[in-house]
Amino acid sequence: EKVPLNLKVNGQKVKLSVEPRTTLLDLLRENLHLTGTKKGCDYGQCGACTVHVDGQRVNSCLSFAVMHEGKEITTIEGLAEGDKLHPMQEAFVKHDGFQCGYCTPGQIMSAVACVREGHAGSESEIREFMSGNICRCGAYSNIVAAIQDVKK
Ligand code: FES
Repeated sequence: EKVPLNLKVNGQKVKLSVEPRTTLLDLLRENLHLTGTKKGCDYGQCGACTVHVDGQRVNSCLSFAVMHEGKEITTIEGLAEGDKLHPMQEAFVKHDGFQCGYCTPGQIMSAVACVREGHAGSESEIREFMSGNICRCGAYSNIVAAIQDVKK
């Protein structure tokens, strides 16, 4: 049986009714068609599904949508302001922080949290904070460079 759910997603209020077992990831991708957030492993191991809930990063595949009643969700689609990319998006472009790009939305959402929460003090601190975001192409050093650039 479906239950009602109210969220704010990328600044917009949304009213839905969802199956209690729907993950936040499936809700974003399938109900709201926000497919920027990726499904890599679907069990908390890769970070491709990272979004922000009330400003905190969350692996959206591990969390049920109904747990977030009334909360504010930000996805990769919500970072840019109109035509103006978020500084972290600019930095990923400038430093080639991706190759195939599949992990990039999750990497960028974690990277934004990394700087905002003050975990970008050193390369090792950045690597530690970002360790849940796997990049199969191995773009790690460029991702670190992008984060360091934004932190400056
Ligand atoms: Fe959520 Fe991999 S899809 S951590």
